[in-house]
Amino acid sequence: MPERVALDFNNMLAPRLGGGRGIEPARLDAMAERFRGAHAEVRRRREAGELGLFDPPYDTAILDEVRKFGDGLGQAFETIVVLGIGGSALGAVALRDALVAPFWNELDDEARSFYPKLYVLDNVDPTTIGPFLDRLDLGKTLFDVVSKSGSTPETMAQLLIVRDRLAREFDEDGVRRHLLFTTDPDKGALRRLAREERIATLPVPPNVGGRFSVFTPVGLLPAALVGGDVAALLEGAREMDRRCATDALAENPAALFAVLQYLADTERHAPIHVMAAYSDRLYATADWFRQLWAESLGKRKSRSGEDVFAGPTPLHARGATDQHSQLQLWIEGPFDKTVTFLTVGDFAEDVEIPRAYEAVESLAYLGGHTLGELLHAEQAATALALADRGRMNMTIELPRLDAHTLGQLLMMLQIATVYAGELYGVDPLDQPGVELGKQLAYGIMGRPGFAPPDAAPPDPRFASR
Ligand code: PA5
Repeated sequence: MPERVALDFNNMLAPRLGGGRGIEPARLDAMAERFRGAHAEVRRRREAGELGLFDPPYDTAILDEVRKFGDGLGQAFETIVVLGIGGSALGAVALRDALVAPFWNELDDEARSFYPKLYVLDNVDPTTIGPFLDRLDLGKTLFDVVSKSGSTPETMAQLLIVRDRLAREFDEDGVRRHLLFTTDPDKGALRRLAREERIATLPVPPNVGGRFSVFTPVGLLPAALVGGDVAALLEGAREMDRRCATDALAENPAALFAVLQYLADTERHAPIHVMAAYSDRLYATADWFRQLWAESLGKRKSRSGEDVFAGPTPLHARGATDQHSQLQLWIEGPFDKTVTFLTVGDFAEDVEIPRAYEAVESLAYLGGHTLGELLHAEQAATALALADRGRMNMTIELPRLDAHTLGQLLMMLQIATVYAGELYGVDPLDQPGVELGKQLAYGIMGRPGFAPPDAAPPDPRFASR
């Protein structure tokens, strides 16, 4: 039987925390009925085709297409550069960091088993992009331009710059060979350009939003190109989907996660949700989750159109590093946070700490242990310390980190987000605030049909220069 991702939420509950803190088990039990309603609504929307995020793990045609491209054309390059932002970038980084060896892009060809390097450019800071492109061997590079809408200004600007550089070195055919567009199958500028210029494409299903697209070619292709086991990833996602088919709250891990965080926010005054990865390789997953939770739940309007200004504030952190930067605040600051630990049971490889300085107490006790033991001890101690001070926390444990368990985790968090949308009464699939930001940027940059923001000029008295 494949290993399952586990959730331990003892430290969210009042008996464990004491002092009037935490969620009463009876309150959690009382949510079972409400969850049944939320689950039924999610099922209804899914069957009506409104929740496309559930489909990609079952889409064998997309998996075949990704594998074909990844095993064939994709391997002709030494470097893959993803151009994308938000949901079009964070999933690729999460998969890369979790599935391939650390410092991947610094390894030589043999250590990478001759798979390409993989970079994700998700910003338009000129001091990053300029020098990065200057150093790149364009002849050995494939640019995967990822934009579902085909209009996001950051990604379109990157495309224009890259295309210009390619055109300075290659003829039309050559330029085309170094580009791949991952975009909507029918709509948008990228799709049109791809048709006109015969550029290779992979589809982003129209009913799957950016932040829910990690199991589409948006995340799958970069992962496949570097040798990630994308079939096992999708199998893990399907397993979690099956596990979450039940409307019994106590048996559905995504539901438990969503309900507990929702109660913490709305009834226990803890609107800040920290995800702390006790594995360097899961830090980017915590960052991916931060976008998923923020952009899906942070909404002005309820689904019935009232102003609700809903949404918890997700943060991400890395253990043990952030114990020395943020933990002080979590343990002694306001009672406004939950902490979710992401842990890995078996690190698969470990480093022994040598015995030395036996007479020096502050070093001697470490000898003979491993770094894995130390990291586990740090996490367990932090969870206990938080609980001891009445701070709600829970642990999601991956028995080991591989494509199958990662697929389970990512699917669990996506399903939890949809459940949380139901509990908050908001639509987790839209992002009107992001769209507004894009439209204002178009206006400032002079795109026809879009106006710059209409704000009073700044008062010089209220600025310090
Ligand atoms: O989740 C989302 O919808 C957003 O974060 C988008 O992914 C992001 O704005 C990029 O959009 P696009 O893929 O259209 O370029």
